[in-house]
Amino acid sequence: MSHAEDHQGTRRDFLYYATAGAGAVTAGAAIWPLVDQMNPSADVEALSTIRVDVSTLDPGSQLTVKYLGKPVFVRRRTPEEIEAEREVEVDDLIDPEARNPNAEGDLPATDLNRTLPPFEGENTGEWLVQIGVCTHLGCVPIGDGAGDYKGWFCPCHGSHYDGAGRIRKGPAPENLHIPVAEFVDENTIKLG
Ligand code: FES
Repeated sequence: MSHAEDHQGTRRDFLYYATAGAGAVTAGAAIWPLVDQMNPSADVEALSTIRVDVSTLDPGSQLTVKYLGKPVFVRRRTPEEIEAEREVEVDDLIDPEARNPNAEGDLPATDLNRTLPPFEGENTGEWLVQIGVCTHLGCVPIGDGAGDYKGWFCPCHGSHYDGAGRIRKGPAPENLHIPVAEFVDENTIKLG
């Protein structure tokens, strides 16, 4: 499945392979696990669409891919994470907007409204896909349950995001943004 079926010109699809432990972040904000691409970054940045293979991602883990020059976090959440985030009231949020371009209209930032539906069936909240750029001044937050709200933590100035990527504490004004994304088969997320 190496060539694009759904877009034109010289643009090509790239398949990113998730590797076990791809989400393990051990150091500072600038370090994030980029799944290697096979082409120069200038080429990749010109792409409007990429496909991400999530077949090896276990619940409770995540991977990061580079898309349009930015990290995109793909997290497969556990039932416990989903349950905890679904209990959060929108009234308790700093930013009440879902910031999800895949949903119609300006929806409230409920957990459900932030998550990506699977290829088929009900949206159980298992998949959370976000642009990995802090909405304060653009650092890359640390993930895998980091911070006071068990989501992402930006160490640049101390912004804490919850397990749905919603800003809960610190200077960041908005929830982590969500890219245009959809499942195109059971195991593949298309970005863009
Ligand atoms: Fe993330 Fe300032 S850039 S807290």
